[in-house]
Amino acid sequence: MRICILGGDGYLGWPTAMHFSARGHEVVAVDSMVKRYWEAVVDVAPLEPTPLLQGRAAHWYKKTGKVVEVVIGDIATDPGLLHRLFRDYQPDVIVHYAEQPSAPYSMMNQNAAIHTQQNNIIGNLNVMFAMHDYCPQAHLIKLGTMGEYGTPNIDIEEGWIEIEHKGRKDRMLYPKKAHSLYHLSKVADSNNLEFGCRIWNLAVTDLNQGVVYGIDTLEMGKDPELRTSFHYDDIFGTVLNRFVVQAAVGSPLTVYGNGGQTRGYLNIQDTLQCVELAALHPAKAGEFRVFNQFTEQFSIMDLAKKVQKVSLLYDLDVTISHLPNPREEMEQHYYHAIHTGLPELGLQPHHLTDEVIAHMLDRAICAKETVRSVGLLPRVTWKHGMDDKGITGVVRE
Ligand SMILES: NC(=O)c1ccc[n+]([C@@H]2O[C@H](COP(=O)([O-])OP(=O)(O)OC[C@H]3O[C@@H](n4cnc5c(N)ncnc54)[C@H](O)[C@@H]3O)[C@@H](O)[C@H]2O)c1
Repeated sequence: MRICILGGDGYLGWPTAMHFSARGHEVVAVDSMVKRYWEAVVDVAPLEPTPLLQGRAAHWYKKTGKVVEVVIGDIATDPGLLHRLFRDYQPDVIVHYAEQPSAPYSMMNQNAAIHTQQNNIIGNLNVMFAMHDYCPQAHLIKLGTMGEYGTPNIDIEEGWIEIEHKGRKDRMLYPKKAHSLYHLSKVADSNNLEFGCRIWNLAVTDLNQGVVYGIDTLEMGKDPELRTSFHYDDIFGTVLNRFVVQAAVGSPLTVYGNGGQTRGYLNIQDTLQCVELAALHPAKAGEFRVFNQFTEQFSIMDLAKKVQKVSLLYDLDVTISHLPNPREEMEQHYYHAIHTGLPELGLQPHHLTDEVIAHMLDRAICAKETVRSVGLLPRVTWKHGMDDKGITGVVRE
């Protein structure tokens, strides 16, 4: 297959590029490097230095003889980039990761919220229009999030729900109660894509992904030149990744509120597996197919206790600190999300075992000298945004 990965410099994008390339597919990775700019704005950096996309692609070629083509450009502000790319490259599959991925970033202030929604929603619309005009037969695999649904007091279906109202029935998109303005940008993407399938016959798989954890994948191994960007900070670090680094440096694990918040989680290796399964079993023309992409569900306290238990093996005295919850969310709630679609296609989950946590902890301990205290505590609250001291960049006026 000819596969175009949008957001190819990112935490998930680069491992996905290697994963498909290793299996003999033609891969082009597109990125504007804007994430590296956002990192500077909020004064954070990945745990380990992450070589530029071009450098990683060159190293991948040297090591394997396989080519990942690199295109630098912004899909939200330069629609012509996608026109040229889709016209000339004629992808079979487009994997779209290229969005601002952080809820706290989107809640930092008005400019960051608007930038998030512009970047994500317009970028996604540009992908839709470029597909319509230049490669209508391609299959778009779009990364959404489980956070689009929120925590409703009923079962969460996979994207669609049968509704009976006043004696009549219809199949509707599942109603969303998103957790942040970032998550709402994903809701808008989903609605726009469903429209594109219905009106233009596009073929789309929307992967409503849970929270990803993990530090490396098979193709990356221990090669520092092929690393992905692993974040542990309050803005871009997902919760388990953050807890593991906090444990490594002897900082308390920061549980927001009572920690009863329950979500779906998956190993980064399963992200690659799920995206590959979706690519190998494409949606049909006109189909807006949704999968809930996670393998296990945990509460925040479950995760904190798991990390605390494994840390004992390393003689690390890890404490759990309950902070006032900076987010507006329920801390005790019903959570039952259906996630049968990907297992039906053959997903073999990697479970969150003590060994997996120990492996992450090993890496975090090795890199602990680079860990910075900024970002170990939350700086953004949903009610008041980022406080003045927490930000160095130009997003805030
Ligand atoms: N990591 C997770 O736990 C998780 C969970 C659910 C959903 N997702 C979604 O998966 C996708 C990838 O997540 P990630 O963790 O790899 O994020 P990431 O920030 O590491 O990667 C996204 C990449 O897209 C690029 N990008 C953003 N806007 C762009 C634009 N307009 N033009 C070109 N490039 C652009 C960034 O520079 C970055 O390299 C995101 O859409 C995110 O919302 C991630």
